[in-house]
Amino acid sequence: MATAAVTKPDYGVDAPAVLRNLFLFGSACLFAAGVIHAPIHIGNVILSLHSMFLWTGVALVVEGFLYLLYVKVGKMHHRDSMLAFHAWRGDEQVLDVGCGRGLLLIGAAKRVGSAGRATGIDIWSTVDMGGNAMAATQKNIELEGVADRCTLVSAGAQEMPFGDGSFDVIVSNLCLHNIYDKPTRQRALAEIVRVLKPGGQAILSDYKLTSQYGAYLRGAGFEVAKKRGSMWATFPPLTVVVARKPAA
Ligand SMILES: C[S@@+](CC[C@H](N)C(=O)[O-])C[C@H]1O[C@@H](n2cnc3c(N)ncnc32)[C@H](O)[C@@H]1O
Repeated sequence: MATAAVTKPDYGVDAPAVLRNLFLFGSACLFAAGVIHAPIHIGNVILSLHSMFLWTGVALVVEGFLYLLYVKVGKMHHRDSMLAFHAWRGDEQVLDVGCGRGLLLIGAAKRVGSAGRATGIDIWSTVDMGGNAMAATQKNIELEGVADRCTLVSAGAQEMPFGDGSFDVIVSNLCLHNIYDKPTRQRALAEIVRVLKPGGQAILSDYKLTSQYGAYLRGAGFEVAKKRGSMWATFPPLTVVVARKPAA
C-alpha cells in the first residue's frame, strides 16, 4: 500500500509523558468522582472525596488542554515573539540550543536568508520531545525550504563544539531546565557566554529557573531583561531572558 508523502513540518510534542499524564490522571480522578459519593469521616472531620476528585480531575484536564494548545498553536506564536527580540540584519550566525524538531532554528533560518546560517545542537532526547531525532529535524528543515542555511550538530549544551565568539545570536526554548544539576546547567550557560560574539544577543526561554539564567548572565557582564511570554499562547507560562553580551 502506498504511504502519503509528508508535506507539512511536524514540530512534535514537548515532554509527551507530561501531556499523557495530565489526561490520564485527570480522567481517573473524574471517574473516581463519578463512583464515590459517600463522605468519609476522620475523627471529627468529614471529607468529601467526591469534590476532591472532581476538582482535581477538572484542573488536570483543563491543564492538559492548555498544554495541547501550546504544543499545536501557541509555540509558533511564542517562537515569533522570541525571535522578534532581535533586530535582524540577515547575515547573522545563529545557534539554537536544544533545537528539538527545529522550531526556533528554522524560524531563525528564515530571518537570516542565504547570507547567514542557523545551527542547532541537541542530544535528541525522546523524553523531552516526542519523535526527537536528527533525521526528523532535517526533514522539517527540508520541508520549510531552508536546508541551504541550516546545520544540525549532536552535542550537549554543556560542551559545545564551537570556537569562542562564533555566534551573533543564541536562542533556546525549554531546554536548559532539562539539565537537572546546577553545576552542569551553569556549564551550559558558560558555554553560551563563550560562543556568543561580543555585542551578541542571547534569547533564552523557559518555564522555570529563568532567574538563575538571568543572574548568571548578569554576573558575566551581560545587560539582562526578563520578558513574559504571551499569557494565552504559552502553558506552562514561559519567561524569556533577553541578554546582550558586552561589546569587546
Ligand atoms: C522540550 S524540547 C524543546 C525543543 C525546542 N527548543 C522547541 O521549543 O520546540 C527540549 C529539547 O532540549 C533537548 N535537550 C535536553 N537536554 C539537553 C542538553 N543537555 N543539551 C542539548 N539539548 C538538550 C532535548 O533533547 C529536546 O530536544
